[in-house]
Amino acid sequence: MSKPLKNKPSLFDLVGGLSAIEKVHKRFYDKIYLHPWLGRFFEGHEQSAIELRQSQFMALKMGGDIQYPGMALELAHRRMYISEELLTLRQSILRESLEEEGLAEALIKRWLKIDHAFWRDIGKESMEDFLDIDLKYEKPLIIPDPDKT
Ligand code: HEM
Repeated sequence: MSKPLKNKPSLFDLVGGLSAIEKVHKRFYDKIYLHPWLGRFFEGHEQSAIELRQSQFMALKMGGDIQYPGMALELAHRRMYISEELLTLRQSILRESLEEEGLAEALIKRWLKIDHAFWRDIGKESMEDFLDIDLKYEKPLIIPDPDKT
């Protein structure tokens, strides 16, 4: 259960708590891992670990009384060239997963709004966004869209 604000149920409660969030993310990452472009970013990352972190992160942001022991999003994605196009594609797969899990449209909109709020911590517009990386030791992870190569 989450701490209620002015007696209103949180989004966490409305979507059905942590187990409902985990079900959505299982469905979502099943699709992401199979995707020819998005899936390549996750090579070498265990799917169940990613699902758990994403679920804890979203549960917390939805008002759940949950610990998120993962990294700050900017740090977790710092080497990845993630364009707005890629974020939009990822969110369309997230919407599809939420619809397949039978969530009401109003709850889907609220979920996607929270997701969108973190795009600015993750998205890259150009190579200049990697200036905080010492390119002698680390390389940006750039994966081209297979449909455009
Ligand atoms: C196209 C966009 C995205 C791609 C390709 C992507 C890819 C990844 C990858 C590969 C990891 C594993 C990083 C690691 O363990 O070193 C990761 C972690 C994570 N991502 Fe994303 N991500 C994207 C967008 C997002 C968005 C929009 C959110 C939140 C709303 C998000 C939340 C997270 C979280 C919570 C973790 C776990 C961090 C940790 O384990 O400490 N990601 N992502």
